[in-house]
Amino acid sequence: MTSVTVVFPREIKNIVVDIQTGRLTKLALQVLVDGNEPSGLLRDYFSKKRPGKTYRKIVAGLIFFLLRNKKALFLAVSPDLKGLGCETVIRGVLELTVFRTLSADLSLFSRNANIVKQDLQLKKIENSPLQTTKSLSFSKSYPKWIVSYFLLNDGLKRTLQLLDDSFRPNYICLRANSIKIKCPTLIKKLREKGIECSSSNNIPDCIYVRTEKKISELSLFKSGEFEIQDFGSQLIVKALNVKKHSTIVDFCAGAGGKSLAIGSLMRNTGVVYSFDISKNKIDKLKIRLARSGLKNIYPVLLSGLNDKRLNGFHLKASKVLVDAPCTCSGTFRHNPHLKWKVSNMLLKELTKRQGEILEKASYLCSQGGTLMYATCSLFKDENERVIENFLKSNTEFFVQPLDNSYVKNLLEELKESVFIDKLGGVTLFDPRISKYGFYFINLTKKC
Ligand SMILES: C[S@@+](CC[C@H](N)C(=O)[O-])C[C@H]1O[C@@H](n2cnc3c(N)ncnc32)[C@H](O)[C@@H]1O
Repeated sequence: MTSVTVVFPREIKNIVVDIQTGRLTKLALQVLVDGNEPSGLLRDYFSKKRPGKTYRKIVAGLIFFLLRNKKALFLAVSPDLKGLGCETVIRGVLELTVFRTLSADLSLFSRNANIVKQDLQLKKIENSPLQTTKSLSFSKSYPKWIVSYFLLNDGLKRTLQLLDDSFRPNYICLRANSIKIKCPTLIKKLREKGIECSSSNNIPDCIYVRTEKKISELSLFKSGEFEIQDFGSQLIVKALNVKKHSTIVDFCAGAGGKSLAIGSLMRNTGVVYSFDISKNKIDKLKIRLARSGLKNIYPVLLSGLNDKRLNGFHLKASKVLVDAPCTCSGTFRHNPHLKWKVSNMLLKELTKRQGEILEKASYLCSQGGTLMYATCSLFKDENERVIENFLKSNTEFFVQPLDNSYVKNLLEELKESVFIDKLGGVTLFDPRISKYGFYFINLTKKC
């Protein structure tokens, strides 16, 4: 559990008052009950209150801290607040969060003796030497079922890595759009605008940026010189190893992050069909496409897996990418609300859906072509097991080792950051280079 130490006495005082008068407590309650990404609720809260930038930043930090450390915080306050109403407990949890993360002055809190005791209790929970499912669930603040899942499937050492979110990268990853600009030129232009950035050691067009500025407001973004895309997502596209003039299907294209990267790598030749069932996502893809300068992307809004138009693509694509809908467990570090939202039942539903999508997408793959499966999940059920099941009933496919020299070298360079499973699937999990964790595997259809 990391804490942010900021010293803004006026804002902290205001925040404590907002907790005690119930305003912030209500927001925290909504965030915990709602279970969705908290930015919408934070936006509503700020639009009513209209606070300054510092207040906003601190409150957003408190809410994310609360979501990340919910279990440990509630356990720490529970002996003092047992039997009291929900609002009182949440107020207690928020006060403890303020005390812990903002080094707030004790005199601000009415129950200051309790806060010191609770903070000690919190430290004890965080540093619990026990590594049982129960103790890890409290010390790392994860639902018990996720801890048991990782322990069972990944062993203790890896579970500890997967649950540890003490390091949260403060960078944004960009992809230079090589159709419009060379990476060194983009870096130079970003630096001229006072933006701290550096190129990735592993992927030539990938740039790490550290800035407080809103990157999407830069004219360089509006004119399509770069896209915001995480390292792992760019790595998946590199591993697809597309060739100019080919026909590619991006079956779950979403808002087109990977489609655009593929189109750019193909230097505006060939064709990329970008399928999705979400109109909202396809509309967003069209906006990004207009910025990109690419002419080789064709967005297609599908009605579902039985969309008749899919028949026309039978055996047509030399590469099919299935970036399947998943629990997004590789993004928990940044989206802590998701760890409370995902359930074992949802995992089962998604696993079934992933199998169905992969099966359908495989029809589009040409003989000798590549079918790449990817997720941003760290759950084996959504990765390795989907592939095992698929291979059982689709014997014309086999796992293609990622052995073209470029990708092989890349994976060698990344050996500290990736884990290769027994099938040959790659899990990337290293927040130092990729904000999110990803899984991908390449299958080939026999000729
Ligand atoms: C992980 S997201 C894709 C992200 C995207 N590839 C990117 O790089 O930005 C999964 C996508 O699958 C789409 N999806 C779900 N079911 C689908 C189906 N049956 N056919 C096509 N797309 C589907 C969802 O709408 C969602 O946009």
